[in-house]
Amino acid sequence: MYDWLNALPKAELHLHLEGSLEPELLFALAERNKIALPWNNVEALRSAYAFNNLQEFLDLYYAGADVLRTEQDFYDLTWAYLLKCKAQNVIHTEPFFDPQTHTDRGIPFEVVLRGIKQALVDGEKQLGISHGLILSFLRHLSEEEAFKTLEQAMPFRDAFIAVGLDSSEMGHPPRKFQRVFDKARSEGLLTVAHAGEEGPPEYIWEALDLLKIERIDHGVRAIEDERLMQRIIDEQIPLTVCPLSNTKLCVFDDMRQHNILQMLERGVKVTVNSDDPAYFGGYVTENFAALYDSLGMTQEQAKRLAQNSLDARLV
Ligand code: HPA
Ligand code: ZN
Repeated sequence: MYDWLNALPKAELHLHLEGSLEPELLFALAERNKIALPWNNVEALRSAYAFNNLQEFLDLYYAGADVLRTEQDFYDLTWAYLLKCKAQNVIHTEPFFDPQTHTDRGIPFEVVLRGIKQALVDGEKQLGISHGLILSFLRHLSEEEAFKTLEQAMPFRDAFIAVGLDSSEMGHPPRKFQRVFDKARSEGLLTVAHAGEEGPPEYIWEALDLLKIERIDHGVRAIEDERLMQRIIDEQIPLTVCPLSNTKLCVFDDMRQHNILQMLERGVKVTVNSDDPAYFGGYVTENFAALYDSLGMTQEQAKRLAQNSLDARLV
């Protein structure tokens, strides 16, 4: 039924690798690493995937990531995601990874990076999927800790294209990271940031003006500020929108309230992405399908959204 959506060539520009950890793989890695889990089985874990806001999700997402211990674990996680891309005709991906989620548990930075990067390189060779990797800072941690992470990353500078900013948005405005983003840009890295998911339009302004971002991750609250809307239309600043994520985290009460098609028709360069597909009920095709089912997205709109994703690539 959604074959035509699946068949559209697409890029995915907003995907957290840790959020692609399916419960089955999570249990398999727990067994391999001899980790006791607080859930009895896959079904019990899946039934915990009910969230009222971003923070409730993040608490479970960080708990789940604890099973990732070895280079092979990070490879297997990334490879499983790439197989999904292949099945859904995602021909290019720019995934995020959160090094601090792992280094704070004592996993060396290079273990995380080597596993992820090797899978991405193999994905280019064996599956024909091109990539650009984005190192994302956790915004609930300090500026100093972000600087430390950037320093750990610099020996591997060529493995990334950009830095990003994720985790708990409210109370952690982009300005908190202006200096570390300046430093990243001085190293030739591009910048993106989550802004306007739960946070106000002011956070989007800061991300644009202080962090000099190339794309806004989420950005759905831009619609509350007409001057901001004009700017993102005039400058054609892409938004990486994640419809299933937004409904699962109650950013919108219902998919029928989602503003992505309204933005598209106003000329905003919006794209469709999965964010944390293992937790939110689907990969890119399922996100397109939700827009078709609930918003009456036309074939022509779907094609424009897919084309936007290819146009909004950083590499
Ligand atoms: N928002 C903020 N941080 C995140 C998200 C998100 O949607 N997913 C994973 N980390
Ligand atoms: Zn995200």
